[in-house]
Amino acid sequence: MSVKSNVLTILEERKGDSVSGEELAITLGVSRTAVWKAVKSLISDGHDVTATTNKGYVLHEKSNVLSVEGISRLLEKECDVFVYDTLVSTNDTAKIKAIEGAKEGTVVVAKEQIGGKGRRGRSFFSPNDSGIYMSVILSPDVTPEDSTLITTASALVTANAIEDLIQKPASIKWVNDIYVDGKKCVGILTEGVFDLDGGNNHKIIVGIGINLTTNNFPSDFAHRAGNIGEVSKNLLVAKIVNGLLKISSTLKDSKHLTEYKKKCFLLGKEVLVCGKEQYITFARDIDEKGRLVVELADGSTMTLNNEEVSAKLNEYA
Ligand code: BTN
Repeated sequence: MSVKSNVLTILEERKGDSVSGEELAITLGVSRTAVWKAVKSLISDGHDVTATTNKGYVLHEKSNVLSVEGISRLLEKECDVFVYDTLVSTNDTAKIKAIEGAKEGTVVVAKEQIGGKGRRGRSFFSPNDSGIYMSVILSPDVTPEDSTLITTASALVTANAIEDLIQKPASIKWVNDIYVDGKKCVGILTEGVFDLDGGNNHKIIVGIGINLTTNNFPSDFAHRAGNIGEVSKNLLVAKIVNGLLKISSTLKDSKHLTEYKKKCFLLGKEVLVCGKEQYITFARDIDEKGRLVVELADGSTMTLNNEEVSAKLNEYA
């Protein structure tokens, strides 16, 4: 690891406290000049560090820059973490890494995406430094046919992590849009990398985009898009990764669906289904595979797998 990375790790661990240049130099076995150069480079990357003659260096609590060091120290399992300034799409980069053999828990984060992808071929607005754009590689214990469970679990983990940090409810619009204060603040795109050699080595890429301070959304969805406000980016990424890795090995039992349903604001409402045909129906339940069970006018039920659904008459689009 570079001196810069080691200095950042120590400053992150002692965030808010001052650490002397001498202590850093001795701990890392480098000169004080090397420490100072590393700190200068961290400041130019945007970290809020001040240097005081007698006390040394402080990384201020409010410093909020995504970094490998800041995320890694908060992870419960050792994972490979990559943080980029700009990517086309973190899902695309994670997919390449998965094909090259990256292990479960590999995390790809970007401060900006220039080709962020949404579901159904849409794009995901990903301006610099105002959101979190992340993808996590998972090898869950479900077959591709049951992959909706990965989507529901990812939404639940993300909603819980957000609630922990903002102390407000985060609700889920089936399957995996997350709403805060009635606005969509998070989108999730789950993609698979399949083992075409007939093996059982499928990997799933869970791509999550979170609007933190994002504004000026493109006009076509500005009316329903919102943001969750400033939170610690490294902490939010780490909480989501920790949650995903915990839930990934227990998906088959569908236990997370009980909690998922409580957060799902479409249930018990009339909804508009926009699949091949458009129709209004009643959202009755979520089944054990994460599918939406809807009740038709004649009392019969059917299950929806991946359709686009919106609440019919209320505040949510
Ligand atoms: C949607 O709302 O339609 C899903 C949006 C998913 C966006 C995230 S941002 C990180 C990851 N990389 C992408 O290109 N897309 C996902």
